[in-house]
Amino acid sequence: MPAEVTDCIQKHCPVHPSGSVLAVAQNRIREKSTLRDAGLAVPEFREVTSAEQLRSAVSELGTPSVVKTASSGYDGKGQAVIHDPDQVDEIWTSLATDQAILEQFVEFDCELSVVGARNSLGEFVHYGPFRNSHTDHILDVTVCPSGLSDDVNERAVDVARRVFECLDVVGVLCVELFVTTDGRILINEIAPRPHNSGHLTIDAHKTCQFEQQVRAICGLPLGNAEQHADAAMANILGDLWNESEPHWPALLASDVKLHLYGKAEARPGRKMGHITALADSIEDADKNVRAARESLLNK
Ligand SMILES: Nc1ncnc2c1ncn2[C@@H]1O[C@H](COP(=O)(O)OP(=O)(O)O)[C@@H](O)[C@H]1O
Ligand SMILES: [Mg+2]
Repeated sequence: MPAEVTDCIQKHCPVHPSGSVLAVAQNRIREKSTLRDAGLAVPEFREVTSAEQLRSAVSELGTPSVVKTASSGYDGKGQAVIHDPDQVDEIWTSLATDQAILEQFVEFDCELSVVGARNSLGEFVHYGPFRNSHTDHILDVTVCPSGLSDDVNERAVDVARRVFECLDVVGVLCVELFVTTDGRILINEIAPRPHNSGHLTIDAHKTCQFEQQVRAICGLPLGNAEQHADAAMANILGDLWNESEPHWPALLASDVKLHLYGKAEARPGRKMGHITALADSIEDADKNVRAARESLLNK
């Protein structure tokens, strides 16, 4: 919903998350500037509004670098990796935008996300960190716990807590993070809502992210966010349809949970549902969830 609409509704009733949080999350320049100005670490970036500006930003940040439309991008849409300055004109035209952000290409060990919830009393609970792997810039598999050190997990949660406080967030919000090869934690982006990486909380946690959203925005006490089993979640993309329906019986014969979103049309790259596996270790959960997804192709 455009932030202007929430600003208007806010005059008549409480709106959570507030229009100001949405405005920050809906524009990548505003998002990264706000977080950086609050003392939080983000990848180096430049605002660009023309092919010329993109060219000079690429010469400053070097290649590879990542250009993204300032607004309306999701699941890798509206972004491109620039490997060579010669690609600038072609890529700028393909983005079809008048405002974009150029980011340094972050060399990361892994990507994490922290989904949290905060109510109007300032109570805060969080899940994770979740450890996420992406394919073609789209979330593919999430595991929780992360399998990383306590130090990294604590720093990730601390960054998320600071985001909630500096934006005065009421509701559920996800903070996507890079753990760089030199051990820093950088914020990639924020999403002021239940997040794809938090879908495993439906099966693996005492209170899921969707229930926390209702509790948080209604001013109710937040639920217990404890995890009751190690878990892995794999997305089901439209690519798996491939002219006919995936083979659901094979998947349902295995010990996983299937969640479909009821979307009528399957398209490549479109998120149609997800699978969650619970196990005694994230390694087993990860293996089982991938095998279950693979079984959808068995005819
Ligand atoms: N600056 C960057 N350096 C390296 N990889 C990146 C960078 N920005 C994005 N990516 C990769 O692309 C994915 C999607 O980008 P993101 O900014 O989160 O957009 P979206 O809104 O599509 O999720 C990230 O999760 C990451 O894997
Ligand atoms: Mg993202």
